[in-house]
Amino acid sequence: MNDRPATPTGTSSRAVAPTAQIFIADADSIATIRQALGGIGLQDAEFVSGNIATATAMLTQKSSPRLLIVDISGLDDPVAKVNELADVCEPNTGVIVVGDRNDIVLYRDLKYAGVVEYFFKPLVGNLVTRACNTVLSGGVTEHQSARTGKLIFVLGVRGGVGATTIAVNTAWYLAETRQRWVMLVDLDLQAGDAALQFDVSPSHALREAIEHPDRVDKLFLERAVIQVEHRIDLLASLEPLTDTIAIDETAITALLEKLLNRYRFIFVDLPPTIAMRMMQILNLPSTCVLVSDATLASARDVARWRVAIGPNTSDRTTLHILNRNAMPGSLPGPEFTRAAGRAPDITIPYERDIGAANTLGVKGGQQNATLRHGLAPLVRHLSGEQVEAPRSVLRRLFG
Ligand SMILES: Nc1ncnc2c1ncn2[C@@H]1O[C@H](COP(=O)(O)OP(=O)(O)O)[C@@H](O)[C@H]1O
Ligand SMILES: [Mg+2]
Repeated sequence: MNDRPATPTGTSSRAVAPTAQIFIADADSIATIRQALGGIGLQDAEFVSGNIATATAMLTQKSSPRLLIVDISGLDDPVAKVNELADVCEPNTGVIVVGDRNDIVLYRDLKYAGVVEYFFKPLVGNLVTRACNTVLSGGVTEHQSARTGKLIFVLGVRGGVGATTIAVNTAWYLAETRQRWVMLVDLDLQAGDAALQFDVSPSHALREAIEHPDRVDKLFLERAVIQVEHRIDLLASLEPLTDTIAIDETAITALLEKLLNRYRFIFVDLPPTIAMRMMQILNLPSTCVLVSDATLASARDVARWRVAIGPNTSDRTTLHILNRNAMPGSLPGPEFTRAAGRAPDITIPYERDIGAANTLGVKGGQQNATLRHGLAPLVRHLSGEQVEAPRSVLRRLFG
């Protein structure tokens, strides 16, 4: 294994935000924060007259600063507002919240939602200075942020059923239409094609992360991930076919845990041959999306995977997407359901255009209405939105 540092090879570079942005309206607080930031020598702080809602609206469109200070004074449900902000905010932004309530329950809830510190007015200069310093010096360790992302395994029960297409396109929708920060990890280190579908080059970083988990820290992740789009990062390697790569579950779990502190969604493209060797990982709190086509062999394997993974629990759900439905060789719906043991949660038809569009990568897939409509219930489910899908789908997904 070579030791050279991985270099990002993505197609986009992120716009640079000021180091700090402050969304607050009252003059006294502004003066205190200005003085605190001046005291630690910060030159590029941007003050915006507004509150947390203004910040959320702005960060939906733009890059996030390293330090964000937002006002929640007068708001009825500040924790919900902080969660909305966190959904669109870059993963490594440190958020300090100021408000008008001296309330220990609120304080705890805000800390739980992942904020670095909560101060009530009138602000005390040296406390603000200390909190800002902690954020700017990188002193906020990842586990200090209680908020974690969602883990989604996309497991094709056989090769060629469309698992990577589904992982890549769902990740893209969440990032582009829901402004979520998304990571995709392609665990097929020797033959994966997520990078190909995203139209970026793989790097050695994923292999390095798995073989040397001790090297994986914040800096490693900042340097090593491949930037695909503004809000999408990728970890994908393409190692020689003849190499022997040890799949170490402990190392992968440690990596996923670090990623969960930095992204709202972590998709793991998981080929079945690798999934079989990592059954403990499939038991992490997650959504496991089984992908199959409509052949008899796939129906059998969906049933076998359901048994291997076990029943749903309060923090782990298995969904089944029947993809490439009705292509030549498919079982009719009732027969497939009988062989698989239950009906699929989502069905996406076979359409030649999807395959053709895919040769253009994810941007091609995005043009395809069948794929977009097919994946919409999954996107809504993952982003926690109300689903307007037919009741049967609703019941199966959420019942
Ligand atoms: N619904 C669909 N209709 C037609 N072709 C599809 C569909 N979904 C995926 N494909 C095509 O099937 C092939 C295999 O897809 P891929 O995502 O690489 O599968 P996997 O990751 O499960 O091996 C690709 O050429 C892809 O474009
Ligand atoms: Mg694949």
